[in-house]
Amino acid sequence: MIEIDPKTRRMTIRDGERVETFTLEDPRAFEVLSSLWMRSAWETKYLYTFTWFGRPIIQLPDDMFRVQEVLYAQRPDVVIETGVAHGGSLVFYASIFEAMGSGRVIGVDIEIRPHNRKAIEEHPLFSRIELIEGNAIAESVVADVRNRLRPNDRVIVFLDSNHSYDHVLAELEAYAPLVSVGSYIVATDGIMKDLVGSPRSQSDWGTNNPFQAAQTFLASHPEFVLAEPSRTFDESDGANVNVTQWPGSWLKRVH
Ligand SMILES: C[S@@+](CC[C@H](N)C(=O)[O-])C[C@H]1O[C@@H](n2cnc3c(N)ncnc32)[C@H](O)[C@@H]1O
Repeated sequence: MIEIDPKTRRMTIRDGERVETFTLEDPRAFEVLSSLWMRSAWETKYLYTFTWFGRPIIQLPDDMFRVQEVLYAQRPDVVIETGVAHGGSLVFYASIFEAMGSGRVIGVDIEIRPHNRKAIEEHPLFSRIELIEGNAIAESVVADVRNRLRPNDRVIVFLDSNHSYDHVLAELEAYAPLVSVGSYIVATDGIMKDLVGSPRSQSDWGTNNPFQAAQTFLASHPEFVLAEPSRTFDESDGANVNVTQWPGSWLKRVH
């Protein structure tokens, strides 16, 4: 049970015998609030309300801000993303590349619906986007992606297609070798582990999720570590809480 008293600005958490009280400026209060907010955002489909340069993008804006920070800091040559849907995230990466003057985006989806394909292909930023239709873990699709890379391309990968444990693990194995040292492969939507019991969740999400797949992958791939991008600006009062759909999702290639 969580109680919030706006007058005293105090949060009380009761869990059986355990009672904890924080003021609202305590980062722990922010952490609890943001995790509740995240759950409510999921349940109300808040994430399905945004567009980027005209295309629907199914992401939390906070996560996209962090992605922008990484793309600006690292200036990769190529973003690979599995899971295109309406194309909003591809257009997001492409818009940052356009502003920086270089970079291209390779998007893979098992089904690119004709109206989405048309809108993406007609988009002003399409010159920076390449589409591949097929199962992201099919050998032929992975080979197609690999063949589009040039020697010395700096590559970052976002996995945002099928979020089951088996699929994400297979994607991690297939796409991790393409990631440049110092760059990332992001097994998005690690939040699923925290959404069990929510109306739009499945009962097995506690283990059948990208977070768990990332953990398994890390255990046998010492060339990667779990590392959220460090903040490029932080004048907060030590509130080192990330409001994110992607907890435990950023895997950095260290060698
Ligand atoms: C969550 S949506 C992607 C959202 C998009 N990245 C964005 O930010 O707007 C997931 C997409 O993954 C695609 N998908 C599902 N299974 C797939 C698979 N095995 N291979 C490739 N794409 C897949 C679906 O067709 C769907 O378009």
